[in-house]
Amino acid sequence: MKNVAIIPAGGSGKRMDSRFPKQYLPVGDIPLLVHTLKIFQLSLLIDDILLVVPEEDIHKVGSLIVERYSLSKVSQILAGGNKRQDSVKNGLDVIGDDCDIVLIHDGVRPFISGKLIRLAVQEAAKHGAVAVGVPVKDTVKRVDQDGWILETLNRQMLWLTQTPQAFKRLIIQEAYQRAYQDHFYGTDDASLVERMGHPVRMIPATYENIKITTPEDLLLAELLMKTRKVTVP
Ligand code: C5P
Repeated sequence: MKNVAIIPAGGSGKRMDSRFPKQYLPVGDIPLLVHTLKIFQLSLLIDDILLVVPEEDIHKVGSLIVERYSLSKVSQILAGGNKRQDSVKNGLDVIGDDCDIVLIHDGVRPFISGKLIRLAVQEAAKHGAVAVGVPVKDTVKRVDQDGWILETLNRQMLWLTQTPQAFKRLIIQEAYQRAYQDHFYGTDDASLVERMGHPVRMIPATYENIKITTPEDLLLAELLMKTRKVTVP
């Protein structure tokens, strides 16, 4: 049975304030998306990569990213959808029955490690559904629309959720099917599984596994990339 990674990179990067979608911006000397894909390419736990990009970029990404950087595990480059969830769905729709575990990881999180991929696959095989994340460091408050604090949440129970999120294929496919039936959009994949009542295990990740969203994140990524050692099992 296979482990398949879906890498949604179909966003337009509106919050980056740049002419290019953020996934193609260079960090060090290679595009952000290539950093991310390389870790999956090197991981012994990953058999196939389904890469999802904006429809108009499919050919360009094929030659300038997949071929140029010898990313041979990328078996399909698919068109993205309106929202991230639609892009992931396009990946889930083409996965074969020979797939056991599906890992979903944002194309714009280049600091994923081989160790985290291994842990996510192993825990998903055991529990069926996992997300990775880190405990919050700051105090989190619920605030109303006029700026008044409604509540201070118990920090000990709060985690920031990242990707990868990993699932047994049948569980995530059912969660997506139900979400579309109910017109439900979540901000991550695990929330679709949670709403089915299926338990999702949280796995500790690292604070450096950031999502590159705004120009400050790109500066931080440049710094982190300089001190990074890539070891992929
Ligand atoms: O939107 P956000 O910045 O949270 O994006 C997380 C990931 O989802 C990015 O890699 C982005 O390219 C991808 N995405 C997508 N399709 C969309 C919107 C975002 O694949 N329509």
